[in-house]
Amino acid sequence: MSNSLEINQVDELYFPNIIPDEELVIQQNNYENIVNQFKNNNLETWKKLALENLIWEKPFTRVLDDSNAPFYKWFDDGELSISYNCIDKHLKHNSNKVAFISVDNEGLSTEINYKELHSKVCQLANGLLSLGLKKGDRAIIYLSHSVETIIAMHACIRIGVIHSVVFAGFSAQALSDRIKDIDSSVIITANGQKRGDKTIITKNIVDEALAILNNEHNNKKVIVLNKIEIQINMNKFIDIWWHDLTMNMDNRIEPIVTESEHPLFVLYTSGSTGKPKGVVHSSAGYLLGVIHSLKLAFAVKDDDIFWCTADTGWITGHSYSCYGPLSLGITQVIYEGIPTYPNHSIYWDIIQKYKVTVIYTAPTVVRLHIKLDSQLPRNYDLSSLRLIAICGEPINPDAWKWLYSVVGNNCCSVLDTWWQTETGSVIITPISNVTKLKAGSCTFAIPGIDIGVINDYGELLNNQTKGYLVIKNPFPSQIRNIWQDSSRFLKTYFIKQSTGEFYYLTGDSSIIDKDGYCWIVGRTDDVLNVSAHRLGSVEIESVVAIHSNVAECAIVGVPDEIKGQAIFLFVVCKENILDTNQENQNIMKNEIIQLVAKKIGPIAKPDYIKFCENLPKTRSGKIVRRLLKDIACGVEINQDISTLEDQSVISILRNN
Ligand code: WT7
Repeated sequence: MSNSLEINQVDELYFPNIIPDEELVIQQNNYENIVNQFKNNNLETWKKLALENLIWEKPFTRVLDDSNAPFYKWFDDGELSISYNCIDKHLKHNSNKVAFISVDNEGLSTEINYKELHSKVCQLANGLLSLGLKKGDRAIIYLSHSVETIIAMHACIRIGVIHSVVFAGFSAQALSDRIKDIDSSVIITANGQKRGDKTIITKNIVDEALAILNNEHNNKKVIVLNKIEIQINMNKFIDIWWHDLTMNMDNRIEPIVTESEHPLFVLYTSGSTGKPKGVVHSSAGYLLGVIHSLKLAFAVKDDDIFWCTADTGWITGHSYSCYGPLSLGITQVIYEGIPTYPNHSIYWDIIQKYKVTVIYTAPTVVRLHIKLDSQLPRNYDLSSLRLIAICGEPINPDAWKWLYSVVGNNCCSVLDTWWQTETGSVIITPISNVTKLKAGSCTFAIPGIDIGVINDYGELLNNQTKGYLVIKNPFPSQIRNIWQDSSRFLKTYFIKQSTGEFYYLTGDSSIIDKDGYCWIVGRTDDVLNVSAHRLGSVEIESVVAIHSNVAECAIVGVPDEIKGQAIFLFVVCKENILDTNQENQNIMKNEIIQLVAKKIGPIAKPDYIKFCENLPKTRSGKIVRRLLKDIACGVEINQDISTLEDQSVISILRNN
């Protein structure tokens, strides 16, 4: 990796929120206190936070067990119920408080309070028990982003069932891969869903996924939510309506108490091989990390109206919709639709109407709004907002400044939060009202976490040098394992230092500037970030390779105004297609696109396809993606090409 400082450093500092002085002083003191406590004794501070923020059924005596590092265990002899910590604990004083204002695809809203949420979760949990599910069993949830998904997630964990939510945009093949890998006993889904002006018959996708599994799905049950008016087939041996299952069920059930390390959920994410990784999260440590970030960085208040726009199919929807805000007993908005339907102002309508105080979204959504109508927010009263947070991909300083000035009216903190599916909660972030901001930087590691930048040899680098971003110490919300694949877990994520410490490898490159501010440059592995969704290039390539006329192929990411990265595919055909007519080439392009949509999902469709005779390879036969990237971007190639087997490939590719 090159050592040069390539970031667009902006020295301008932005001052956060204009809030009363007393409040500011309290927040700043609180921050300094916690920084000092962690500095003095990291584990003692996590212990204190775990006792303050979680309700324990059986208190723990050990904070961190690192005897089998990096398979860390946190608070492992303690016991608690995550369901109790998110729902039941609010019933005594806040049962009538609204938990969710849910806004559907058409913009219509309904409310559900904590008591009603509790009843619905219990009824479904009892339903799952009646189907024979028990602690440690797995359930796949294949639903759109809605309160029902949250209810399904909590119903699972209430009885110790490990959930795995699959983003409803994934195809039948991707769904069946996950059902198979996790060997789930049930699939919780809906008959269909509306997304913008499209209707998706979700149940048919589930049927198809099970058909792919053939006989391997014996005894699996499918619970179907009657979400929209649509006719579907119900197989009386497999399928059961959610309303039938829960109709006569008791609306109370004691939440199960589990050990701290009981897996709460598994969430699949893309890596650098063709097979997605099932990221396993714990119970206590995970929830603690999320609460810590919400209390400290977001400075969450009881009367906040918190809107996280991320789908529950991704980690942000887990941590900052399903678990964190509920455990703090606040009111959330959950919006099922898309930013452009029924019209372009739906986001601003929602903020104005429900007086949203915190919005947590992604740079891709921000760029889309800027493109749709950058002045539109000015027509709305967005004065309820006190905090704007983003995550998922780098944000360019201009988009950041637009958020700060046009949406935030120069008086909201903008939190550019860096984290990953694997970290479970926010890791690098400004602290609301405290951190002086630089447009486009995610600033500093949250107290309790120590980050660094290393080179190819694992050595720590000084500031202002680009390298691999690592997390130097263990932390409660970190990934515990990859489902059924401990060796991949070790290989992918950890590098052992001569001191014996394990550094966690994030897969990102970054630079820490002269003032200590962290700037994320991008992924260092073959992972793309398309509209803040992680996609493995190898994962897509292995699907393209199925096409009967594909000899080999390679995927690279190229910059895209809205999506952050677009997918650029190079294909070498078995039967030369370059000499044939355009129509032939278009047919093949279309076949490839349909194949990817079918095997992974529409989000992974290539944006550009280029047919070529050869790909640049090293002498050992490895495709050199960094060169393809320059070609795809149409930029000058200044990189070393001496290691290529055949250097003429480059000029041929460029001339086409
Ligand atoms: C990857 C993780 C953030 C949780 C949702 C995505 C990129 C994430 C930022 C940021 C620049 C970011 C990284 C990371 N990323 N946040 N603030 N600035 N890049 O979780 O799907 O696991 O993706 O998203 O490359 O490794 P994920």
